[in-house]
Amino acid sequence: MQGKTIIITGASAGIGEELAVTLASRGANLVLAARGEEALAQVKRRCEQSGGRAIAVGTDVTDLEACRRLVERAVEAFGGVDILINNAGISMWVRFEEVTDLSLFDRVMRVNYLGSVYCTHYALPHIKARKGLLVAISSLTGKTGVPTRSGYAASKHAMQGFFDSLRIELLGTGVDVLVVSPGFVATDIRARALGPDGQPLLESKRDEDRDTMDVDTCVAWITRAMENREREVVMTARAKVSMFLKLVAPGLVDRIVLRTLREKGS
Ligand SMILES: NC(=O)c1ccc[n+]([C@@H]2O[C@H](COP(=O)([O-])OP(=O)(O)OC[C@H]3O[C@@H](n4cnc5c(N)ncnc54)[C@H](OP(=O)(O)O)[C@@H]3O)[C@@H](O)[C@H]2O)c1
Repeated sequence: MQGKTIIITGASAGIGEELAVTLASRGANLVLAARGEEALAQVKRRCEQSGGRAIAVGTDVTDLEACRRLVERAVEAFGGVDILINNAGISMWVRFEEVTDLSLFDRVMRVNYLGSVYCTHYALPHIKARKGLLVAISSLTGKTGVPTRSGYAASKHAMQGFFDSLRIELLGTGVDVLVVSPGFVATDIRARALGPDGQPLLESKRDEDRDTMDVDTCVAWITRAMENREREVVMTARAKVSMFLKLVAPGLVDRIVLRTLREKGS
């Protein structure tokens, strides 16, 4: 990662923040993007204290022009782009029949899916020039349906399909595509998740002390996969087994998902 220029969206909190600080400690130049500029400025300071160079670029990834500016600022500051990490994301927590504001589906799709498409569009020519890496922080919900997360799962399935397709288009160009699928990670994403009326819930509905991966472990998985230029990271052995089972007994996987969520109070 030494000397590489890395754009991270959703870098103001959670996985994106810790990923930024870890990559900075390995000598990367960080381009930090999110809407919350105060939080971003703090992450920038943490990156610099860790030994990397960093700039903060206030960005709403649902805004095409803002994504263009983000990449432009990265190139101005560091002369190019090696890696784009599409990490910005929002979640939801409501059964479909209980949704009263359908616009929550638009918002989840625009941030998680279209935000990744927009940033990738502008960054790709620069990443190609450096035979770099595209990273998509998806989710296990990108692999299988999950109750109360229908729109979120749809957005993560969309990300998976987009990046799987792009990987094939980029064969032979030297650009690699990594799709990361974490399970439950200890961040505030479930407190920020949208509820029935499209407003954030403000507190998580699950017991966050149970079966939750700490952020540092998640970041270690991601950085290892980036260094090895892997194509996929599916976090947890149980999820890997479920992916195989889904091919032969999809109904069984549905029941496992339901039981897992109930066990975890999710
Ligand atoms: N935590 C988990 O259990 C888990 C599991 C599987 C997958 N993931 C995925 O991992 C990624 C990071 O999640 P996290 O848990 O770290 O979430 P988080 O702590 O809630 O952080 C989300 C980040 O995304 C940014 N963001 C949200 N909307 C944005 C927008 N419109 N434009 C730009 N940035 C935006 C937020 O900053 P601003 O609000 O300031 O913009 C924040 O920096 C997401 O894609 C999520 O789906 C998380």
